[in-house]
Amino acid sequence: MANKRIDLPPGVLQPREAVLKMAPYSPPTAGRAGKLRLDFNENTVGASPKVIEYLRQQLSEDALAVYPEYGVIKQELAEFFGVEPDDFILTNGTDEAIQVLINTYVDDGDDVLLLRPSYAMYRFYAEVAGASVREIPYRAQKLAFPLDELLLAIRPTTRAILIANPNNPTGTGTSRAGIERILDKASGAAVLIDEAYFEFCGVTALPLLNDYPNLFVSRTFSKVYGMAAMRLGCLFSQSGNVDFLHKAQSPYSVNTLATLAAHAAIQDRTYIEKYVTEVLAARELLYVGLERLGIPYYESKANFVLFLAGDRSIAIRDELRNRGVLVRDRSYEIPGCVRVTVGTRDQVRRFLAELEQIW
Ligand SMILES: Cc1ncc(COP(=O)(O)O)c(C=O)c1O
Repeated sequence: MANKRIDLPPGVLQPREAVLKMAPYSPPTAGRAGKLRLDFNENTVGASPKVIEYLRQQLSEDALAVYPEYGVIKQELAEFFGVEPDDFILTNGTDEAIQVLINTYVDDGDDVLLLRPSYAMYRFYAEVAGASVREIPYRAQKLAFPLDELLLAIRPTTRAILIANPNNPTGTGTSRAGIERILDKASGAAVLIDEAYFEFCGVTALPLLNDYPNLFVSRTFSKVYGMAAMRLGCLFSQSGNVDFLHKAQSPYSVNTLATLAAHAAIQDRTYIEKYVTEVLAARELLYVGLERLGIPYYESKANFVLFLAGDRSIAIRDELRNRGVLVRDRSYEIPGCVRVTVGTRDQVRRFLAELEQIW
């Protein structure tokens, strides 16, 4: 069906209606160098030095000249995650995993269920596809996962349900039993469990893969692995589904450097374990510090915490930025809330010291 004609500036070609209707999204990722970056839930001390060393060793004219090959890294990652190589695709970050899943299963006008607030890219890709999006709010009380409400909202026609567990920005999550109830109810939908913050909470749906043909699980190297710049993720499902995901994905979207970095990253488990231990200790320190300042917060299962700054959330973000500390204002989706990434205990101390000055 042809698009309705609308008035656009001269020389601008009319896009698809779904794109026309979307609000522009631009993440505030400029000018972050040299600051304490507690705004994107990244690893705040960087990737393992062994990753950098390996990349330096492997970088050559030849390595850059040829198209990527995935056979060896897929075998290594399969062993690392305890699955078969046919049970997942490599993706250009979780973002591409979401895109490929939507492109594989969601048509114009299809019913897609999301939770609110959650990771912005679910809505983004669903809207690009022209889906009809419904959002279930996290509970006002403690921003708990709205399991019963979500179960009630599932329809036989629902095509996809996209869930972050634990969720960004609430930090809250659901149990594996909760996920099973969703999978049982939504047997005709592609259910994505996005486990970007898995390492901080330990709850995973991966062992359910063989039991549920409607289950999709994503993991990323952007968070605990400190490789956000590399753009690497994995999207797991039963091999029959993976064949279709492959069909909907461009063949070389993951670059060779990302595969080399992953090879080294999964060898250095100690680095990851140490970082997780540090973050969990730092999160406790952050809770204590916020309580001392009388600042309410939501307990988190991930490497970030939402705290309440009332009507000063934007001012607090800006004043912290002037002092070299970056945090994210989330008041547009949860009134009064600011999200701070948890890194090391020293970084939490610095954050609390700056916050105390301006509070
Ligand atoms: C829930 C969730 N999923 C995925 C991502 C992004 O992952 P990637 O860098 O792998 O695209 C984020 C980043 O903030 C996130 O919060």
